[in-house]
Amino acid sequence: MCGIVGYVGRSQAAPILLDGLGKLEYRGYDSAGVAVYDGGAKKLSVHKAKGRLQVLSDMLDAGAAVPGTVGVGHTRWATHGAPSDVNSHPQVSRSGKIAVVHNGIIENYAELKAFLQGEGVSFVSETDTEVVAQLVEYFVDTGGVGLLEAVGRCLRRIEGAYALGIISADEPDRIIAVRKDSPLILGYGQDGMFLASDVTAIIRYTREVTYMDDGEAAVLTRDGIQCYNTFMQPIEKEIAHVDWEIGAAEKGGYEHFMFKEIMEQPEALRHAIFPRIREGEVYFENFSLTDDYIRGLKKIYIVACGSAYHAGVVGKYNLERLLRLPVEVSLASEFRYMDPIVDGGTLVVVISQSGETLDSMAALREARRLGAKVLSIVNVVGSSIARESDEVLYTWAGPEIAVATTKGYSTQLAVLVLLGLYMGRVLGTVSGRERAEAAAELLALPEKLEKVLEQRDGIQYLASQYFNHNSIFFIGRNVDYALGLEGSLKLKEISYIHSEAYASGELKHGTISLIEEGTLVIALGTYEKLFDKAMSNVVEVKSRGADVLALTTGDRRADMEKIANGVMTIPSTHPLLLPSLGVAPLQLFAYYVALMRGCDIDKPRNLAKSVTVE
Ligand code: M6R
Repeated sequence: MCGIVGYVGRSQAAPILLDGLGKLEYRGYDSAGVAVYDGGAKKLSVHKAKGRLQVLSDMLDAGAAVPGTVGVGHTRWATHGAPSDVNSHPQVSRSGKIAVVHNGIIENYAELKAFLQGEGVSFVSETDTEVVAQLVEYFVDTGGVGLLEAVGRCLRRIEGAYALGIISADEPDRIIAVRKDSPLILGYGQDGMFLASDVTAIIRYTREVTYMDDGEAAVLTRDGIQCYNTFMQPIEKEIAHVDWEIGAAEKGGYEHFMFKEIMEQPEALRHAIFPRIREGEVYFENFSLTDDYIRGLKKIYIVACGSAYHAGVVGKYNLERLLRLPVEVSLASEFRYMDPIVDGGTLVVVISQSGETLDSMAALREARRLGAKVLSIVNVVGSSIARESDEVLYTWAGPEIAVATTKGYSTQLAVLVLLGLYMGRVLGTVSGRERAEAAAELLALPEKLEKVLEQRDGIQYLASQYFNHNSIFFIGRNVDYALGLEGSLKLKEISYIHSEAYASGELKHGTISLIEEGTLVIALGTYEKLFDKAMSNVVEVKSRGADVLALTTGDRRADMEKIANGVMTIPSTHPLLLPSLGVAPLQLFAYYVALMRGCDIDKPRNLAKSVTVE
């Protein structure tokens, strides 16, 4: 969703802002803008354009045309008011002296707007953000106070979620940053200070960052940053070092981030798995959930959105099997309003690649309010969900830029298996031999996945046979059903083909009426224990005229080939890990289908990478 960049320093600001916004494009946006203080003219120069960032960049000669060393930039994902130049950020106050960039939603903006209109303030945009710019100026004018104090007064009036970057022509040496429920980080560079929605925007300039916490504010000047708590008292914040390679967030010769990230999965799995297995046992460094706590658990509740939820569905099958504990899995957007049965005997596992998804964050807070401990499985280090959890297991997949998650999901699956083996040892539900076998298969997983990825030409050929279908069904049982949910989402979100996933046994309860001559059914049959049933379902849909593309293990290829129109295979592995291999052919299939349909793969329509509004 919206992306924020700010810079105050000794270099020209606009090229830095545009470069940073370019790195945030993956979050999803529909317009972009920058505001820079022009020291010659002694005023803010504000430039905005609907559409791709390139439009703005061309307008400003990549920033060279805009003088000034202090500024803020923004990519907007419309919430209040359609995408347009006027609704783009930065939003400015009526005098043009204060400019604001905002990620989030000001929930009481209508009431505040009415108040300001009553005071004679007129508005030009439909945005909630303009209210912030106008309100800050109102407090400066009527209270005779400085920018920081005016922002503090504004914060006491606004409700909702926000990350804000604010500059003023009257105090041109600084940027004010504040955050509540929307991510914002501060960066310490050699020749200036930075502000950004995430690290990718500023990693080229600095690796020393501070993660702002909810309710905090910061004043950035060219020589340093002063942070403040909710009461506007100065505080010291920790500076963290980011150790990614800069290239990790760039395409590195690949046509799309999604393809690059699919191919990076074996390496991502090595990072997620290898440091956590020692002599056949799972080991988590500095893990704070004690054995006594684990033995006292009555239930596990997995909460997440989208693909992370699908990882959770696989997790339910695997954890129940390993732990013999009830595991519930819920969409975070439902959990927060369903009055869930959660207490101190429940471990709530929140899964999130970005660590910033608002619904997952709200579910986390609800779980903690109800007395549960929260263990999060998160990719982005230092993200909000990671910081508010009682314990975090990072997936260490590296930056994921494509909107469609791939390595984020596959590392979540691996970490869930690691968690199951760890807890299974503590609970005594998984024998030493079983743990050693599973651990050995986990260590072999990256290499097996490499073998699957080597089959990509064959999958591309299959995609060429089916890319013009308008409706595709995924069917499977048990973990194959859970895998189908993810395969279907991957396909629909990037190719715009209508697709649904069903538990195979449910077909005859209604859905089979949709199967007709030529309908494509992707039948998942990797789980050996239920292979015969998978075959029966293939026969069932074939006899209604469906074309069937099957996914199974290499051992079962010959059986499947007897009836399916096409077969994709994965190597045999431990049943816990089948979806970790099985997802790769489905990701590649979705990718090639979308490519053949000419879709914008890394930035699918209407989607944002990190969903920071409800
Ligand atoms: O960052 P998160 O894992 O919390 O994101 C959850 C979903 O928004 C995400 O998985 C989404 O469904 C992706 N577009 C799927 O590819």
